[in-house]
Amino acid sequence: MLRTHTCGELTISDLGQTVTLCGWVQKSRDLGGMTFIDVRDRYGLTQLVLNTDTDATLRETARSLGREFVIKATGQVQERTSKNLKIPTGEIEIVATDIEILNAAKIPPFLIEDETDGGEELRAKFRYLDLRRNPIRNNLMLRHKMAQEVRKYLDGLNFIEVETPVLIKSTPEGARDFVVPSRMNPGEFYALPQSPQTFKQLLMVSGFDRYFQIVKCFRDEDLRADRQPEFTQIDCEMAFITQEDILHIFEGLTRHLFKTVKGIHLDKFPRMDYADAMRLYGSDKPDIRLGMEFVELNDLTKGKNFGIFDNAELVVGINVKGCAEYTRKQIDELTEWLKRPQIGATGMIYCRYGSDGTLKSSVDKFYGEDDLTNWAAAFNAEPGDLMLILAGKTDKVRKQLGELRLEMGARLSLRDKNTFAPLWVIDFPLLEWDEETGRYHAMHHPFTSPKPEDIALLDTAPGEVRANAYDMVINGVEIGGGSIRIHDRALQSLMFKHLGFTQQEAQKQFGFLMDAFEYGAPPHGGIAFGFDRLCSIFAGLDSIRDVIAFPKNNSGRDLMIDTPSTIAKSQMNELKIRTTV
Ligand code: AMO
Repeated sequence: MLRTHTCGELTISDLGQTVTLCGWVQKSRDLGGMTFIDVRDRYGLTQLVLNTDTDATLRETARSLGREFVIKATGQVQERTSKNLKIPTGEIEIVATDIEILNAAKIPPFLIEDETDGGEELRAKFRYLDLRRNPIRNNLMLRHKMAQEVRKYLDGLNFIEVETPVLIKSTPEGARDFVVPSRMNPGEFYALPQSPQTFKQLLMVSGFDRYFQIVKCFRDEDLRADRQPEFTQIDCEMAFITQEDILHIFEGLTRHLFKTVKGIHLDKFPRMDYADAMRLYGSDKPDIRLGMEFVELNDLTKGKNFGIFDNAELVVGINVKGCAEYTRKQIDELTEWLKRPQIGATGMIYCRYGSDGTLKSSVDKFYGEDDLTNWAAAFNAEPGDLMLILAGKTDKVRKQLGELRLEMGARLSLRDKNTFAPLWVIDFPLLEWDEETGRYHAMHHPFTSPKPEDIALLDTAPGEVRANAYDMVINGVEIGGGSIRIHDRALQSLMFKHLGFTQQEAQKQFGFLMDAFEYGAPPHGGIAFGFDRLCSIFAGLDSIRDVIAFPKNNSGRDLMIDTPSTIAKSQMNELKIRTTV
């Protein structure tokens, strides 16, 4: 090895040792006669001191060093006179007697420090330099530790890791597929897996019983802070289990990760059914750190000649603690925020509960003191609170109020990154009506089993059929989702029929799975966690990008390797792809 130690390990107990370190020059200060160099590697930072007064060669080398040069330095460990107690190596320095430049470096395009001056685009283009910075490196180290702990926990419970193929056929998870042309089969394409869903079910048919995989998935969908076109799942499946077993084991995995990686003990996760999540928070992934549960006011607002409330399917509001002093301007600004096309509200009614106990609303003309007192009681409001109320069509208004709730949570700094509020959302609907296509879609995926007691509703009220499907949510982020699967050919065919597949289409696309169900398929179910999302929650980040070594930007581009890119005409010809572009 070129080095005897890393830049993060020497301390006062190593005084007097002759050591060799290798690393990158973080910073070099020439103090006339003495040069101080901070050398950095993955493990930390160590100060070198060079007596450039007496040693001409050292002086020469020191002068030629620039930021990010790769060096090898040999010398003795000595106690520092001015100590830096913020870093583990801050009490010592190396009196370097030999410095070798292993490689020179151009001036980096941005500062390689915790706080950098590099913009997002520049850092993406030079991602390998961005990865040298402590915050990003720490995220990847955290990710590594989490992956190890996932393996330990699941291995301890007899799960086996099986790799499934990447060149497959479409598995519908609600997004578009990325496709790969087959040279040997002109005009035909593989699809990259949106998840290993069908393969893990086939592994259950094969008798593997407990499977997991930390696996790349690919989805061609619009990107957001918590969505990448390629991302990683902790994908799991089990046979001979109930939904309860799955919730228990994967709540256990989550608790294990919090305990071993963050030293945090989590209590048993609360559970909420989908209908309640929508009714109380307007979201299937509620952030329960924020409080502010929805209060429905239809009964208390009807019949007072206020058309907006009288004509609304739903009148619903939240109580925002301690915001009664919001000025008219602040309220107008909130209303404008709600009216933006992204949210689409038509307006907002407020009711202030002043600290002097007086109630005042923006609809005083229609509602007297008694009414407002009843509202306040329904909201459990106290003097100093501000009640914000929306009205309209149920689904829309719940969604809008859900957004307002999150916004108020952010304004009140309730979205604390060090507080973790996990929960299970259960009993999702099996099907979801899609206005665009005018038919039902599987809310989770087509392999999810309806609740046996709801199967009869498939023909009469498909939208009311509940599924044995569940999501794990932490701090308002959907971390994982899964379901008990259909393991019976007839039920699976029926499901495809309700999703609008003809028998031929279903057979062509999923015949392999339905055929397998005829050869002894055990009852089974599973779950997949979004590993990137889990890591970003652990790291306290809003975006998953910085827990991924080489992420794509919001247009799905990797600016570093400059892809997607065109391919050579010869390659197109070979693949028999013709284009008019
Ligand atoms: P689902 O589609 O819910 O379920 O995905 C599971 C989890 O994967 C994460 N996720 C993503 N993370 C980053 N970028 C994306 N584009 C992205 N899309 C999804 C989410 C999500 O909860 N096969 C089923 C699982 C099963 O039924 O067992 C599936 O893939 O955290």
